[in-house]
Amino acid sequence: MTREGVIELLGSAWTDMLAVLNEGLKSDVDLLNKLNQGIISHSGKMMRPMMSLLISKALGTPNSDSIRYAAACEMLHNATLIHDDVADESEQRRGNPTISAILGPSAAVLVGDFWLARTVNMVMSADNNPRVVKYFCNTLGALAEGEMLQMEKAGSADTQEEDYYKIIKGKTASLFEASGASAAESVGASEELCEAAREYALCFGIAFQIKDDILDYAGTSQLGKPLGVDLKEQKITLPLLGALKGAENEGEIREMVRNITDHPEYVDIIRAFVEERGGIKYATEQLDAYIARAKSALAIFPESEAKNFLMQIADFNVFRQV
Ligand code: IPE
Ligand code: IPE
Ligand code: MG
Ligand code: MG
Repeated sequence: MTREGVIELLGSAWTDMLAVLNEGLKSDVDLLNKLNQGIISHSGKMMRPMMSLLISKALGTPNSDSIRYAAACEMLHNATLIHDDVADESEQRRGNPTISAILGPSAAVLVGDFWLARTVNMVMSADNNPRVVKYFCNTLGALAEGEMLQMEKAGSADTQEEDYYKIIKGKTASLFEASGASAAESVGASEELCEAAREYALCFGIAFQIKDDILDYAGTSQLGKPLGVDLKEQKITLPLLGALKGAENEGEIREMVRNITDHPEYVDIIRAFVEERGGIKYATEQLDAYIARAKSALAIFPESEAKNFLMQIADFNVFRQV
């Protein structure tokens, strides 16, 4: 699968989505326009609108609502990243300095708020489907709850696997879920197909964050964002949870994570622990299981090129290095 192949298949739906996204961000404030242009010109993988438009194409013909929902997903994604970089005190995103690093956290919060507000405008400018509005509203809350639960757990270092899944469903998978479900709704798919699209996107989103957490341990500079930061931020993610399973020194390791800010030397010790106890392998197995679930949700989709691409982007998630 190539990105170009997906974009070619999507044709004018993709270019229209980009135009609607640009238009939806226009402001009378020059500083905002300049910053927004900078963000748009350094776009990331744009996985969410890609998945969204592929789903609407697999289940019908993408229309103006499909295009608006797809654009809204990318806008909401960018809003959360701008805020996330404030919360994580992160200096680099997509190989460039973050808004927070350029203008400070206060400005970054406001820019993120602007993107959130325009996301709501974008969703409301489509045909007023209450189920879609509900998906986007739920996501807005879930994103903040996921990030807050992560913060709460960072202070206590007692994250269990159940907490981890709650966090990643909230902060990442809920938005994928809204992307998938709104795309299916936009083309008037049957209830059964809407449910399958939602399930595919949710499982894909869970797998996507597991992969991001694996890359934080095992990725390369290709990622365009700092590596190895999760531990420094006291985040206990799936590779470490896997390594902790049945470990005699679990309490000791958790205590190290809790005190890591004052003891940066613990980072190497914990990374070695994850490596020795097969933490990455464990997380990869869970990732594969969610990808398998995502693909099996597509079984009831009619056969099409768009469906094939949906299967392939699920696999891409497993192998991606960015
Ligand atoms: C980064 O998302 C944040 C996570 C949910 C892991 P992406 O990896 O989709 O970021 P971009 O948009 O491609 O930069
Ligand atoms: C995902 O969490 C961020 C959001 C979904 C808002 P991370 O903190 O792991 O994302 P990165 O690694 O900064 O992209
Ligand atoms: Mg972050
Ligand atoms: Mg991360």
